[in-house]
Amino acid sequence: MTTLSVNGRKHEINVDPRTPLLYVLRGELALNAAKYGCGLGQCGACTVLLDGEPIFSCVTPIALLEGKEITTVEGLGTIDNPGPMQQAFIDEQAAQCGYCIAGMMMRAQALLQKNPHASEAEIRDYLEPNLCRCGTHMRILRAVRRAARVMRTAQGGDTR
Ligand code: FES
Ligand code: FES
Repeated sequence: MTTLSVNGRKHEINVDPRTPLLYVLRGELALNAAKYGCGLGQCGACTVLLDGEPIFSCVTPIALLEGKEITTVEGLGTIDNPGPMQQAFIDEQAAQCGYCIAGMMMRAQALLQKNPHASEAEIRDYLEPNLCRCGTHMRILRAVRRAARVMRTAQGGDTR
């Protein structure tokens, strides 16, 4: 039995502890935002946060995760009350097929939680491990810049 804390809730998981987190999120917990792309840590579609840092959940066995906090897109807000990152992606319509978007949002969330003042170059550099096969990069970048503005405002900082 492995105890996982996901989006602030504890879950007892009764699967082989070598099972990748992505399979547990989707198969056991019905958290389907994170996607299976490559299964090799090479595309970022499965990105979630572990204690605030982005990880590839497709190559992370749950045995490594007890006592840590896992955050998925479902933890950023709800359909009725989207979080700033989710709202920014909606406002910028920053998706085509959408397959990469949950991973993109989580990686961007990790960056802006640490540094809502991240420069354009820093945002591009940080998002680099996550691939978008639809070529939606410019809208994704606009959404991340929008989310950063909202987060800075919420912190009482400047809105540039
Ligand atoms: S599915 Fe995990 S990095 Fe591609
Ligand atoms: S929107 Fe289709 S892969 Fe990014």
